Amino acid sequence: MNSPSSNDDLDRLRALPKAEVHLHLEGCFEPSVIEQWAKSEGVVLPRPREDLLKFSGLADFLGFLDLACGLASTRERLAELSYGLSRRLAESGTGYADVIINPTHWHSWQGRLREMLDAIDAGFTAAEQDGLPAVGLCISLLRTQSADAAIELVSSLVSLRYPRVVALSVDGNEATAGRTGPRFAEAFRRAGDAGLRRTVHAGESSGPEGVWDAIDLLGADRIDHGVRAIEDASLLATLAERAIPLGICPTSNIALGVYPSIQEHPIERLRAAGVLVSVNTDDPALLSTSLVREYQLCRSTFGWSDEITKAVARTSIESSFATDDVKSKLLDALTGW
Ligand code: ADE
Ligand code: ZN
Repeated sequence: MNSPSSNDDLDRLRALPKAEVHLHLEGCFEPSVIEQWAKSEGVVLPRPREDLLKFSGLADFLGFLDLACGLASTRERLAELSYGLSRRLAESGTGYADVIINPTHWHSWQGRLREMLDAIDAGFTAAEQDGLPAVGLCISLLRTQSADAAIELVSSLVSLRYPRVVALSVDGNEATAGRTGPRFAEAFRRAGDAGLRRTVHAGESSGPEGVWDAIDLLGADRIDHGVRAIEDASLLATLAERAIPLGICPTSNIALGVYPSIQEHPIERLRAAGVLVSVNTDDPALLSTSLVREYQLCRSTFGWSDEITKAVARTSIESSFATDDVKSKLLDALTGW
C-alpha cells in the first residue's frame, strides 16, 4: 500500500504540467476489454487470465499486440479505445500526447487507412470535446516491413494529409529485423519533405548502431527509447549537442527485458550526460503502469528533485509535436508548479 507521503507525491505529479511523447494505442487495451471482445469473437487467448500480461520479451509482446488489435474490428471499438486512452491521459494530468499507431497490427483495417483514421479520430475528437487532452498521431511502420510497403504508407499519408497526423514513426523488433535503417531511409526522407515530423524506435532492441542510423539515415526529430545510447560516448555527445530528445519508458524496458531492474536503467546517466530525456509509458494498460507512476519511480529510484522533475516535464512538452499554442500553455503552467 502507498504511504501518505507517496500519495501526496502522486497528487503533485498529477498536477505537474507535462506531455507524453511515447505511447502506443496498441498498448491501451484494458485486459477486461480484451477478454470481453475475445469472447464475443470466439478468439481463444494464449494464456490464462492471471498470466495474460506476462510477456517473455519484445517478440512475445508484439505477437500479443497482433491478437489484441485484431479484435478491434469495428469503428465503435476503435473509437472506444481512443477515448479510453484520452481518459488515461487525463488521469495522469497529461496535457497533450503524441500517440503511435502501427497499421500492421490492426488486421481488420488492412487497406482501409482512411477509414481506420476516421474511427480513431472520432474517439479523440469526442474526448477533446469532453475536455480531455489533445492528441496528435504518429503513424508507424514496422521494422520487418519492406521498403516498398514503407513508401506506400508514406504516399498514402502524404495524399491523405490527415490533420491529426503529425509524424511518421517506425517501431517493432530490430533484433529480428536486423539493420533496417537503409531500407527505410527513402520513406523517411519523403515524409520529412512532406512536412511530417519523424520519430524512430531505436536503441531498445538494437544497440547504439540503431540510434546512429535513426539520426544519420532517418532524420529522427526524436528517438523512442534510445536507452542503449548509454553504451557509446560519442553517440551521447552527438545526442546532447544536437539536442535530439529521447522518449524513455522505464517500466517497459524492465518488463520487456532490456534491463533487469530499475536500478540498472540508464535514464539518470543519460540525463546527467546532457541528453534530453522525457518519461513515458509506452504501452500502459498492457504493462500495468501510468505516467505519474513512471515519474514517481524515477524520483524514488534516482532521487530526482522537483527541479529535475520539472526539467524532464519541460523536455516532454518541448519535444512533443503539439502546436505552438498547446506547448506554450503547458510551459506557462509548468513555471508555476
Ligand atoms: N510497439 C509497441 N510497443 C513497442 C516497443 N516497446 N518496442 C517496439 N515496438 C513496439
Ligand atoms: Zn514504443
